[in-house]
This record gives sequence, C-alpha cells and structure tokens, in this order.
Amino acid sequence: MNNFIFENSTKVYFGKGSVKEFLAGSIKEYGNNVMLAYGGGSIKKNGVYDEINSILKAEGKNVIEFSGIMSNPTYSKVKEGAKLARDNNIDMILAVGGGSVMDCCKAVSLAAAYDGDIWADYWEKSGVVYFDPIPLGVIVTVAGTGSECNGGAVITNEEKKIKTGRDYPKCNPKFAIMDPEYTFSVPKLQTASGGFDILSHIMETYFSKTDDDNVSDDISEALMKSIIKNLPAALENPKYYIARSNLMWAATMAENRIIKLGKQCDFQAHQIEHQLGAYTNCNHGCGLAVIHPTYYRKIYKNGMSKFVKFAKNVWGISDIGKTADKVALEGIDALADFIKKIGLPTTLRELGIDDKDILPDIGASCNIAPGSYGDMNKKAIMEILVECY
Ligand code: NZQ
Ligand code: ZN
Repeated sequence: MNNFIFENSTKVYFGKGSVKEFLAGSIKEYGNNVMLAYGGGSIKKNGVYDEINSILKAEGKNVIEFSGIMSNPTYSKVKEGAKLARDNNIDMILAVGGGSVMDCCKAVSLAAAYDGDIWADYWEKSGVVYFDPIPLGVIVTVAGTGSECNGGAVITNEEKKIKTGRDYPKCNPKFAIMDPEYTFSVPKLQTASGGFDILSHIMETYFSKTDDDNVSDDISEALMKSIIKNLPAALENPKYYIARSNLMWAATMAENRIIKLGKQCDFQAHQIEHQLGAYTNCNHGCGLAVIHPTYYRKIYKNGMSKFVKFAKNVWGISDIGKTADKVALEGIDALADFIKKIGLPTTLRELGIDDKDILPDIGASCNIAPGSYGDMNKKAIMEILVECY
C-alpha cells in the first residue's frame, strides 16, 4: 500500500426505519431554524416528506423549505439557497434527496457563511475553508453519487458553462441517514444510472496506479461484483430490499474515500461527463455509460495488467489460450454488454444529443485528469467524443 491519511467525519445511520429511529436525535444539538431542502417533489409523492416533516415539527423545529433543486444543480440555485439561509438565520440544513440536493446544500452551507463569491474562490479554484459552514445533515433517497459521506459538491455554472466538483472535508455532512426503503420508488432509468455511477466511481479509482497488490483494489473488485449482481436484481424487483440496501451501501463505499486510499485515481470519464452535462444537462450516470467503454478501449494498452485483472476477477473471463490484449478487450466488452442489459444509452445520440457541432466546445473545456493510464490531451478527448457520438 502507498502512504495515505484517512479521515471521514460523517456519522451514518443505515437501515430500515432509520429516519424514524434516528432523525430526532440527530437534529437535537442544532438550533431551531432548520432548512429542509429537496428536489422536484418525489419526496412528496412517496411519503418521505410527510414522515420527515412530522419528526421536525414534533421536535419543535422552525422549518424553512428550500425546494426545486434540479438535477445538475446550478450556481444560481446555490445563491438562492444561501440567501434564504441567511435571511432566516438557518442553524442547520437538512438535505433530502440524491446527489443534486446534497451537493447543492453543501455549496449553500459554504456560501451562506462566506462574504465573497464562492464560485470564484472555491469552485473555479481550490480554496481553503477557514470558517465553519452551516452544519448539514442528509437523508439519502437514491443510491448513486455517494455524496452523503464526502465533502464533494458538483455545481454547474450555467453562465460559464462549467460543471465542476470540489471536495472540502468541512462540507462532509454531520450525519447521513440512509433507509434503503426510501429508494424503492426510484424509477428504473434513475436506478440504472445511479447504479452505473457507483460502478463508474469504483472503476475510475481501480483503473489507476498503483498496480502493486493493494487492499483498495481488492475491495473495489468485491464492490464491482456486488453491483453487477444487485443492480439487475433491483431493476427487476424495485422493492427487493437486499438489492436496494447493497446498492445503497456500495454507493457510499465507492465515495467515502476508503477505496481511494493509496490510489492515484483517474476520473477522466467524469471530467468528460461534467462538460457534457454543462452543455446538454444530460443525466450524470447515463453520460458516464456512454463514455466509459470508448474511453477504456482507448487507454487499456497502457494499463494492460489491470484491465486483464478486471476481466478475470470482476467478469469471470477465462484467460486460457488467449493473449492479454484479447482478455482485456473481452472485459471491456462485458462492461459494454452490462450497460446495454441495464438499459442505459450507448451513444451520445441515444443520450439525446442531436447537435454534433457542440462537441468541440465540450472537448476544449474538458479538464485533463492526471491519473489516467492513457496519455490524455484535448485531441484524445475530442476523438473519444466523436467515437461516442
Ligand atoms: O428531484 P426529485 O423530484 O426528488 O427527483 C429525483 C431526480 O429527478 C429522483 N429521485 C430521487 N430520489 C427519488 C427519486 N425519484 C423517486 N423516488 C425517490 N426516492 O431522481 C432524480 C435524480 O436525482 P439526482 O439527485 O439528480 O441524482 P444523482 O443522485 O445521480 O445526483 C446527480 C448529481 O450529483 C453529481 C452529478 O454530477 C449530478 O450533478 N455528482 C456528485 C458527486 C459527489 N458529490 O460526490 C459525485 C458524482 O460523480 C457526481 O458527479
Ligand atoms: Zn459520478
């Protein structure tokens, strides 16, 4: 293992009935003014809103709502939330939803406590958080980003057409409550895209140096196998608790920094998806599904031993009588087949991008990930985008 420092300050309450059991206790230590933040309204349809609101009221909290947080949350929405938080002297933020709601609230928790422009000082560049953001608690309603156990927040600046993430440990939620039953109502496409996002986070970590034997890669292989088993099962039976609970915890495990220990990490596919999202507002997991196989076919030769390991250990592909090249490609083919099987798009056209002329702008604005096995540059990114089309 390479050297590392590990810290994760989020307390997790996981399991059936966890909101009922632990929400009241978790919010007691914070002041009276609670900002209840959520997305487009799914929590009102599935009963989650009523359950949470009644607990907050029973605790005597003064609830101020911040709703309508969109997928791919925008900097304008962050500013709206920060103003609301300041105007109402918010003592804590309770984010109820998926990655978009959690990320937006992390940025709001910073922006409300900061006098300057947080985009310029904390997203355009990496800043030092020398002050305390408003405390944030989260209740997760969809498995995918793993935002519940890190300080990461991906925000889209719609004017500048930049979607980018930063991870500030001070933005780690104080607590995360995760009831897998809350995810029973997630529609099929979002279940698949969230599930693929989990797989993507693990692959982006696994396919990077070190290639020495290390426990982080071993955990990653186990997590990938779990997703390959549980994601189709959850799609077939959305109320299958075992599948939903395994996916929910795999999402956290992928992004709570544990599998990244001692690893360089890549995240080039994410960098490409982020700019696709900035230009087209596409669904995060769907965009990743289009990019990954093409990206891996481009770089696998530079990470041959890891791609062979992936094929054998994750997909069960035999290497008997085959060259390393063939085994590695069969692993990538297995990944592409899985994407089809779970019903995700495989081309940018299928993703709904009709205008090929925007690809050069997307490619030019995309960050280059230093941890990629490939020798990535803007030309290579453009080639990937064209192949994905
Ligand atoms: O908005 P509502 O009505 O709640 O509906 C949401 C939304 O339409 C729906 N949904 C959520 N829970 C549901 C439900 N529908 C029915 N029943 C439920 N229980 O799901 C849709 C998608 O929600 P969203 O939060 O947008 O999805 P996701 O969790 O995939 O988050 C995506 C965002 O997170 C960022 C992405 O880039 C994107 O902006 N990411 C954040 C990361 C992080 N902070 O660590 C890492 C990721 O790589 C990612 O970049
Ligand atoms: Zn992701």
